[in-house]
Amino acid sequence: MLEKILKKTIHNQLESLSGWDEQKVKKFQQNLLSWYYDQRRRLPWREKPSLYGTVVSEFMLQQTRVSTVLPYFERWMKEFPDFKVLAGADESDVLKLWEGLGYYSRARNLHKLAKQIVELESIPQTRAEWLEFPGVGPYASAAISSIAFEEPEAVVDGNVVRIFARLFKDQREYKGTAEATKKMATLTQSFLNLDNPGDHNQALMELGATVCLPKKPLCLICPVSECCLARLSEPEAYPTIKRRVKRQVIVSRVFSLSNRKLLLYRHPEDAPRLAGLYELPKLESLVIRGRPRLLFSRARAISNEKIKEMIYNTDIADNDLPSGHSWVNVCNIDEVPMSGPHRAWVMELISKQD
Ligand code: ADE
Repeated sequence: MLEKILKKTIHNQLESLSGWDEQKVKKFQQNLLSWYYDQRRRLPWREKPSLYGTVVSEFMLQQTRVSTVLPYFERWMKEFPDFKVLAGADESDVLKLWEGLGYYSRARNLHKLAKQIVELESIPQTRAEWLEFPGVGPYASAAISSIAFEEPEAVVDGNVVRIFARLFKDQREYKGTAEATKKMATLTQSFLNLDNPGDHNQALMELGATVCLPKKPLCLICPVSECCLARLSEPEAYPTIKRRVKRQVIVSRVFSLSNRKLLLYRHPEDAPRLAGLYELPKLESLVIRGRPRLLFSRARAISNEKIKEMIYNTDIADNDLPSGHSWVNVCNIDEVPMSGPHRAWVMELISKQD
Protein backbone atom coordinates (compact mmCIF):
# COMPACT_ATOMS: atom_id res chain seq x y z
CA MET A 1 0.00 0.00 0.00
CA LEU A 2 2.67 2.45 1.08
CA GLU A 3 4.83 1.46 -1.85
CA LYS A 4 1.96 2.21 -4.18
CA ILE A 5 1.44 5.65 -2.67
CA LEU A 6 5.14 6.39 -2.86
CA LYS A 7 5.36 5.27 -6.46
CA LYS A 8 2.26 7.07 -7.59
CA THR A 9 2.54 10.39 -5.81
CA ILE A 10 6.14 10.82 -4.92
CA HIS A 11 8.36 9.42 -7.62
CA ASN A 12 7.30 12.07 -10.04
CA GLN A 13 8.21 14.73 -7.45
CA LEU A 14 11.45 13.34 -6.11
CA GLU A 15 13.57 10.86 -8.00
CA SER A 16 15.64 10.32 -4.89
CA LEU A 17 12.77 8.38 -3.35
CA SER A 18 13.60 5.30 -5.37
CA GLY A 19 14.89 2.63 -3.03
CA TRP A 20 12.37 3.44 -0.31
CA ASP A 21 10.12 0.53 0.44
CA GLU A 22 7.82 -0.30 3.30
CA GLN A 23 10.65 -1.81 5.33
CA LYS A 24 12.90 1.19 4.97
CA VAL A 25 10.08 3.54 6.01
CA LYS A 26 9.40 1.33 9.07
CA LYS A 27 13.06 1.49 10.04
CA PHE A 28 13.01 5.27 9.68
CA GLN A 29 9.93 5.47 11.92
CA GLN A 30 11.46 3.16 14.52
CA ASN A 31 14.78 5.00 14.68
CA LEU A 32 12.99 8.32 14.97
CA LEU A 33 10.65 7.14 17.70
CA SER A 34 13.28 5.36 19.84
CA TRP A 35 15.42 8.46 19.69
CA TYR A 36 12.44 10.60 20.75
CA TYR A 37 11.55 8.35 23.69
CA ASP A 38 15.13 8.44 24.83
CA GLN A 39 16.30 11.98 24.06
CA ARG A 40 13.26 14.27 23.97
CA ARG A 41 13.11 17.38 26.07
CA ARG A 42 10.82 16.72 29.01
CA LEU A 43 8.27 19.45 28.30
CA PRO A 44 5.24 19.88 30.59
CA TRP A 45 2.65 19.34 27.83
CA ARG A 46 4.39 16.08 26.92
CA GLU A 47 5.00 14.62 30.36
CA LYS A 48 1.48 15.23 31.71
CA PRO A 49 -0.50 15.11 28.47
CA SER A 50 -4.09 16.28 28.28
CA LEU A 51 -6.27 17.61 25.50
CA TYR A 52 -6.37 21.05 27.09
CA GLY A 53 -2.59 21.16 27.60
CA THR A 54 -2.07 20.06 24.01
CA VAL A 55 -4.35 22.79 22.67
CA VAL A 56 -2.80 25.51 24.84
CA SER A 57 0.75 24.46 23.94
CA GLU A 58 -0.01 24.30 20.21
CA PHE A 59 -1.50 27.81 20.28
CA MET A 60 1.48 29.17 22.21
CA LEU A 61 4.05 27.40 20.05
CA GLN A 62 2.84 28.92 16.79
CA GLN A 63 5.68 31.23 15.69
CA THR A 64 7.23 31.02 19.14
CA ARG A 65 10.08 28.92 20.44
CA VAL A 66 9.78 26.39 23.28
CA SER A 67 12.06 28.27 25.70
CA THR A 68 9.87 31.39 25.41
CA VAL A 69 6.66 29.41 25.82
CA LEU A 70 7.64 27.42 28.93
CA PRO A 71 7.05 30.06 31.66
CA TYR A 72 3.87 31.25 29.92
CA PHE A 73 2.52 27.71 29.74
CA GLU A 74 3.16 27.11 33.46
CA ARG A 75 1.45 30.37 34.46
CA TRP A 76 -1.45 29.78 32.10
CA MET A 77 -2.15 26.26 33.40
CA LYS A 78 -2.20 27.57 36.98
CA GLU A 79 -4.51 30.48 36.19
CA PHE A 80 -6.74 28.76 33.63
CA PRO A 81 -6.42 25.00 34.37
CA ASP A 82 -9.13 23.81 31.97
CA PHE A 83 -11.47 24.86 29.16
CA LYS A 84 -14.21 25.77 31.66
CA VAL A 85 -12.14 28.21 33.70
CA LEU A 86 -10.71 29.75 30.53
CA ALA A 87 -14.19 30.09 29.00
CA GLY A 88 -15.36 32.00 32.08
CA ALA A 89 -12.36 34.37 32.21
CA ASP A 90 -12.39 38.06 31.26
CA GLU A 91 -10.74 38.81 27.94
CA SER A 92 -8.48 41.42 29.53
CA ASP A 93 -7.15 38.80 32.01
CA VAL A 94 -6.58 36.39 29.12
CA LEU A 95 -4.65 39.03 27.16
CA LYS A 96 -2.73 40.04 30.27
CA LEU A 97 -1.43 36.51 30.79
CA TRP A 98 -0.44 36.32 27.13
CA GLU A 99 1.42 39.63 27.35
CA GLY A 100 4.89 39.36 25.84
CA LEU A 101 4.16 36.27 23.70
CA GLY A 102 3.01 38.37 20.73
CA TYR A 103 0.48 37.51 18.00
CA TYR A 104 -2.37 38.27 20.40
CA SER A 105 -5.10 36.97 18.10
CA ARG A 106 -3.90 33.54 19.28
CA ALA A 107 -5.00 34.37 22.85
CA ARG A 108 -8.36 35.69 21.70
CA ASN A 109 -8.95 32.67 19.48
CA LEU A 110 -7.99 30.27 22.26
CA HIS A 111 -10.47 32.05 24.54
CA LYS A 112 -13.22 31.76 21.89
CA LEU A 113 -12.35 28.10 21.33
CA ALA A 114 -12.73 27.37 25.06
CA LYS A 115 -16.15 29.08 25.06
CA GLN A 116 -17.24 26.93 22.11
CA ILE A 117 -15.86 23.68 23.59
CA VAL A 118 -17.74 24.03 26.89
CA GLU A 119 -21.00 24.34 24.97
CA LEU A 120 -20.47 21.09 23.05
CA GLU A 121 -21.91 17.75 24.11
CA SER A 122 -18.93 15.77 22.90
CA ILE A 123 -15.35 16.77 22.24
CA PRO A 124 -14.37 16.74 18.56
CA GLN A 125 -11.58 14.36 17.59
CA THR A 126 -10.92 14.56 13.87
CA ARG A 127 -8.68 17.03 12.13
CA ALA A 128 -11.59 18.30 10.02
CA GLU A 129 -13.58 19.07 13.16
CA TRP A 130 -10.64 20.87 14.82
CA LEU A 131 -10.12 22.95 11.69
CA GLU A 132 -13.51 24.54 12.35
CA PHE A 133 -12.30 26.29 15.53
CA PRO A 134 -10.95 29.83 15.43
CA GLY A 135 -7.19 30.03 15.13
CA VAL A 136 -6.78 26.32 14.30
CA GLY A 137 -5.11 25.90 10.92
CA PRO A 138 -3.70 22.91 9.04
CA TYR A 139 -0.73 22.52 11.40
CA ALA A 140 -2.53 22.88 14.74
CA SER A 141 -5.43 20.66 13.63
CA ALA A 142 -3.02 17.86 12.65
CA ALA A 143 -1.02 18.32 15.86
CA ILE A 144 -4.04 18.35 18.19
CA SER A 145 -5.93 15.48 16.56
CA SER A 146 -2.83 13.26 16.35
CA ILE A 147 -1.35 14.05 19.77
CA ALA A 148 -4.60 14.02 21.76
CA PHE A 149 -6.59 11.43 19.78
CA GLU A 150 -4.04 9.45 17.74
CA GLU A 151 -5.71 10.49 14.50
CA PRO A 152 -3.54 9.57 11.47
CA GLU A 153 -2.63 13.13 10.48
CA ALA A 154 0.93 14.23 9.69
CA VAL A 155 2.07 17.69 10.76
CA VAL A 156 4.03 19.81 8.32
CA ASP A 157 5.72 23.07 9.20
CA GLY A 158 9.07 24.68 8.41
CA ASN A 159 10.91 22.18 10.63
CA VAL A 160 9.32 19.15 8.98
CA VAL A 161 9.90 20.56 5.50
CA ARG A 162 13.58 20.97 6.33
CA ILE A 163 13.92 17.37 7.51
CA PHE A 164 12.25 15.86 4.44
CA ALA A 165 13.96 18.21 1.97
CA ARG A 166 17.31 17.04 3.35
CA LEU A 167 16.39 13.35 3.51
CA PHE A 168 15.65 13.40 -0.22
CA LYS A 169 17.86 16.24 -1.42
CA ASP A 170 14.79 18.05 -2.64
CA GLN A 171 15.94 20.30 -5.50
CA ARG A 172 12.67 22.16 -5.88
CA GLU A 173 12.66 25.88 -5.19
CA TYR A 174 9.75 27.04 -3.03
CA LYS A 175 8.26 30.54 -3.00
CA GLY A 176 7.84 30.37 0.76
CA THR A 177 7.24 27.99 3.66
CA ALA A 178 3.50 27.92 2.91
CA GLU A 179 4.10 26.52 -0.57
CA ALA A 180 6.70 24.07 0.71
CA THR A 181 4.39 22.68 3.40
CA LYS A 182 1.62 22.16 0.84
CA LYS A 183 3.91 20.37 -1.61
CA MET A 184 5.38 18.19 1.15
CA ALA A 185 2.03 17.11 2.60
CA THR A 186 1.63 13.84 0.66
CA LEU A 187 5.19 12.80 1.32
CA THR A 188 5.07 13.44 5.07
CA GLN A 189 1.67 11.73 5.32
CA SER A 190 3.07 8.59 3.68
CA PHE A 191 5.89 8.51 6.25
CA LEU A 192 3.51 8.81 9.22
CA ASN A 193 3.75 6.05 11.81
CA LEU A 194 0.15 4.86 12.00
CA ASP A 195 0.73 2.98 15.26
CA ASN A 196 1.83 6.17 16.99
CA PRO A 197 0.95 9.26 14.98
CA GLY A 198 1.10 11.72 17.90
CA ASP A 199 4.55 10.69 19.08
CA HIS A 200 5.79 10.39 15.50
CA ASN A 201 4.73 14.00 14.85
CA GLN A 202 6.26 15.24 18.08
CA ALA A 203 9.46 13.33 17.27
CA LEU A 204 9.72 15.16 13.94
CA MET A 205 9.11 18.50 15.66
CA GLU A 206 11.81 17.62 18.18
CA LEU A 207 14.27 16.51 15.51
CA GLY A 208 13.75 19.77 13.59
CA ALA A 209 14.10 21.90 16.71
CA THR A 210 17.14 20.22 18.25
CA VAL A 211 19.10 18.25 15.60
CA CYS A 212 18.15 19.04 11.99
CA LEU A 213 18.90 22.72 12.55
CA PRO A 214 18.73 25.30 9.74
CA LYS A 215 22.42 26.12 10.18
CA LYS A 216 24.99 23.59 11.34
CA PRO A 217 22.71 20.55 11.67
CA LEU A 218 23.95 17.92 14.14
CA CYS A 219 24.09 15.03 11.66
CA LEU A 220 26.48 13.04 13.87
CA ILE A 221 23.76 12.50 16.44
CA CYS A 222 20.82 12.30 14.06
CA PRO A 223 18.79 9.09 14.45
CA VAL A 224 17.86 9.01 10.74
CA SER A 225 21.12 10.22 9.22
CA GLU A 226 21.81 6.84 7.62
CA CYS A 227 18.95 7.41 5.19
CA CYS A 228 19.57 11.12 4.66
CA LEU A 229 20.96 12.02 1.24
CA ALA A 230 21.90 15.61 2.05
CA ARG A 231 24.03 14.51 4.97
CA LEU A 232 26.72 13.37 2.54
CA SER A 233 26.80 16.65 0.68
CA GLU A 234 25.59 19.96 2.04
CA PRO A 235 22.56 19.67 4.35
CA GLU A 236 22.36 23.46 4.94
CA ALA A 237 21.57 23.93 1.25
CA TYR A 238 18.12 22.31 1.68
CA PRO A 239 15.36 23.29 1.38
CA THR A 240 15.59 26.07 -1.19
CA ILE A 241 13.06 28.64 -0.10
CA LYS A 242 12.99 32.11 -1.62
CA ARG A 243 12.73 34.54 1.27
CA ARG A 244 10.63 37.61 0.70
CA VAL A 245 12.48 40.86 1.30
CA LYS A 246 11.11 42.52 4.42
CA ARG A 247 9.34 45.83 3.85
CA GLN A 248 10.85 48.83 5.69
CA VAL A 249 8.35 50.83 7.72
CA ILE A 250 8.88 53.85 9.97
CA VAL A 251 6.39 54.41 12.82
CA SER A 252 6.47 57.59 14.91
CA ARG A 253 4.95 57.42 18.39
CA VAL A 254 4.33 59.75 21.29
CA PHE A 255 5.39 59.31 24.89
CA SER A 256 3.50 61.96 26.83
CA LEU A 257 3.38 61.86 30.62
CA SER A 258 1.43 64.51 32.46
CA ASN A 259 0.52 64.55 36.18
CA ARG A 260 1.59 60.88 36.48
CA LYS A 261 -0.75 59.97 33.65
CA LEU A 262 0.43 58.46 30.38
CA LEU A 263 -1.36 58.89 27.08
CA LEU A 264 -2.15 55.48 25.58
CA TYR A 265 -4.13 54.14 22.65
CA ARG A 266 -6.32 51.05 22.96
CA HIS A 267 -6.95 49.04 19.79
CA PRO A 268 -10.70 48.57 19.21
CA GLU A 269 -12.37 45.18 19.75
CA ASP A 270 -12.63 44.54 16.02
CA ALA A 271 -8.97 45.33 15.24
CA PRO A 272 -7.48 42.50 13.16
CA ARG A 273 -4.34 41.83 15.19
CA LEU A 274 -4.06 43.75 18.44
CA ALA A 275 -7.70 44.10 19.62
CA GLY A 276 -7.93 45.21 23.23
CA LEU A 277 -4.19 45.93 23.58
CA TYR A 278 -2.80 49.28 24.67
CA GLU A 279 0.19 50.99 23.06
CA LEU A 280 1.98 54.30 22.73
CA PRO A 281 -0.15 56.39 20.34
CA LYS A 282 0.96 57.27 16.83
CA LEU A 283 2.13 60.81 16.29
CA GLU A 284 0.01 61.26 13.18
CA SER A 285 -3.26 60.59 15.03
CA LEU A 286 -2.78 63.40 17.55
CA VAL A 287 -2.90 67.16 17.53
CA ILE A 288 0.41 68.17 19.04
CA ARG A 289 1.69 71.40 20.53
CA GLY A 290 5.21 72.52 19.78
CA ARG A 291 8.05 70.56 18.23
CA PRO A 292 8.37 66.86 19.06
CA ARG A 293 11.68 65.79 20.64
CA LEU A 294 13.07 62.36 19.69
CA LEU A 295 13.59 60.20 22.81
CA PHE A 296 14.84 57.07 21.08
CA SER A 297 14.39 54.80 18.09
CA ARG A 298 14.17 51.00 18.10
CA ALA A 299 14.25 48.49 15.28
CA ARG A 300 12.07 45.40 15.32
CA ALA A 301 10.71 42.88 12.84
CA ILE A 302 7.21 41.45 12.57
CA SER A 303 6.13 38.99 9.87
CA ASN A 304 7.40 40.54 6.65
CA GLU A 305 8.04 44.05 7.96
CA LYS A 306 11.15 45.68 9.34
CA ILE A 307 9.88 48.41 11.61
CA LYS A 308 11.78 51.41 12.86
CA GLU A 309 9.91 52.78 15.86
CA MET A 310 10.67 56.45 16.63
CA ILE A 311 9.46 57.60 20.03
CA TYR A 312 8.95 61.33 20.57
CA ASN A 313 8.12 63.45 23.56
CA THR A 314 5.65 66.23 22.96
CA ASP A 315 2.73 68.10 24.51
CA ILE A 316 -0.70 67.03 23.42
CA ALA A 317 -3.75 69.19 22.85
CA ASP A 318 -5.85 66.96 25.08
CA ASN A 319 -9.20 68.73 24.92
CA ASP A 320 -9.97 66.79 21.78
CA LEU A 321 -8.42 63.29 22.00
CA PRO A 322 -9.28 60.99 19.09
CA SER A 323 -11.23 57.81 19.88
CA GLY A 324 -9.36 55.02 21.63
CA HIS A 325 -6.92 57.46 23.29
CA SER A 326 -6.95 58.01 27.03
CA TRP A 327 -4.75 59.08 29.95
CA VAL A 328 -3.85 56.05 32.09
CA ASN A 329 -2.61 56.54 35.62
CA VAL A 330 0.98 55.31 35.92
CA CYS A 331 -0.07 53.26 39.00
CA ASN A 332 -2.43 51.25 36.76
CA ILE A 333 -0.04 50.62 33.90
CA ASP A 334 0.68 47.06 35.09
CA GLU A 335 -3.01 46.20 34.87
CA VAL A 336 -3.60 47.08 31.22
CA PRO A 337 -2.67 44.56 28.52
CA MET A 338 0.17 45.83 26.35
CA SER A 339 2.44 44.11 23.83
CA GLY A 340 5.96 43.17 24.99
CA PRO A 341 7.94 45.91 23.19
CA HIS A 342 5.52 48.67 24.25
CA ARG A 343 5.68 47.53 27.88
CA ALA A 344 9.50 47.62 27.76
CA TRP A 345 9.61 51.11 26.18
CA VAL A 346 7.03 52.50 28.60
CA MET A 347 8.85 51.11 31.64
CA GLU A 348 12.17 52.44 30.42
CA LEU A 349 10.77 55.89 29.69
CA ILE A 350 8.82 56.17 32.94
CA SER A 351 11.88 55.18 34.97
CA LYS A 352 13.92 57.87 33.19
CA GLN A 353 11.35 60.50 34.17
CA ASP A 354 11.45 59.58 37.86
N1 ADE B 1 6.06 23.10 18.06
C1 ADE B 1 4.77 22.96 17.74
N2 ADE B 1 4.20 22.00 18.46
C2 ADE B 1 5.15 21.51 19.30
C3 ADE B 1 5.19 20.52 20.31
N3 ADE B 1 4.09 19.83 20.62
N4 ADE B 1 6.36 20.31 20.94
C4 ADE B 1 7.43 21.03 20.62
N5 ADE B 1 7.47 21.96 19.68
C5 ADE B 1 6.34 22.21 19.02
